[in-house]
Amino acid sequence: MKIITLEWKNNRIKLIDQTGLPRKLEYIYIDKLGDLWQAIKLLKVRGAPALGAAAALGVYLGIKDVKAKSFGAFAKKLDQVTRYIAASRPTARNLFWGLERIRQVVRKNKNENLFTLKKLILKEARKIIEEDRLSCRSLAGYGSKLIKDGDTILTICNAGILATIDYGTALGVIYRAKKVGKRIKVFACETRPLLQGSRLTAWELKQGDIDVTVICDNMAATLMQQGKIDKVIAGADRIAVNGDTANKIGTYNLAVLSQYHRIPFYIAAPASTFDLAAKSGKDIPIEQRNPDEVRKLLFKKEVAPAGVKVFNPAFDVTPHNLISAMITDKGIIRPPYNKNIKKWHA
Ligand code: MRU
Repeated sequence: MKIITLEWKNNRIKLIDQTGLPRKLEYIYIDKLGDLWQAIKLLKVRGAPALGAAAALGVYLGIKDVKAKSFGAFAKKLDQVTRYIAASRPTARNLFWGLERIRQVVRKNKNENLFTLKKLILKEARKIIEEDRLSCRSLAGYGSKLIKDGDTILTICNAGILATIDYGTALGVIYRAKKVGKRIKVFACETRPLLQGSRLTAWELKQGDIDVTVICDNMAATLMQQGKIDKVIAGADRIAVNGDTANKIGTYNLAVLSQYHRIPFYIAAPASTFDLAAKSGKDIPIEQRNPDEVRKLLFKKEVAPAGVKVFNPAFDVTPHNLISAMITDKGIIRPPYNKNIKKWHA
């Protein structure tokens, strides 16, 4: 299956405009920082690991034409650019991690000339892309061992190829399990309000020839009650050091339901999603989005009275005690997370 979510091509970012899916698979080309900011804000590119790569490439777009006379002047511009990108979406740790990776490269090479610094920034952004490709494969390898032949897995939002550079996190586990011969069925929560589950997850799983069934978000409990779900696997946008995990709104519901029905609930995420500065979920900023996402179906058909009050957080926080294990690119982390995340990270 060849889906290229995002790449650096001919001096531009080439990415799938995910707002067009599943109706059309369209690539857009971005060579201006402002356009990238909009693409992130509007979820043309989305998913934590993909946002890390996009942010890093965005820094290059923002500084490539800068003509600074001193390192200080360049550093000032770099700071402006990274702050601007950081203001696009607050929750995904990877976005900030991508920006920090670039800042570090600049700090380490402050004696280089402007031409070399720019080259090093692009090189680092491309390295992030390559690393994500490898880390998803590695995560999938660990995760697939938790899956049994014949399992039916419930997932939410899109933590697949479209949310990463390649293969995905939660969906990567499913791709690998299938590759090693396990028969897997997937239920995808449609994921209101922007329908990443039905538009994106169902689309990419169908491309990958995986047996997928879409449900409305409020059908998950019934499925579990009927004994139809063996495991739940979700991605993550930011994981605190105690294991509390922010992911797409509705993930917490699934975790609560899983505990009640005694179904293993897994979070799949690479190291770049962990925020060791966040002690608990309380330290994770949650994005509030445009009320029209809820009032209108995909901004078109009105499904609520115009101007009605809306609550629209893009993410929720699943408390660590509801998470059976975390599937990462460096292995499986089990509770107690407070101890084991620090140990794993050391
Ligand atoms: O608002 P989105 O579509 O960017 O939300 C994405 C998610 O919640 C994903 O589950 C998460 O980023 C993990 S992607 C591997």
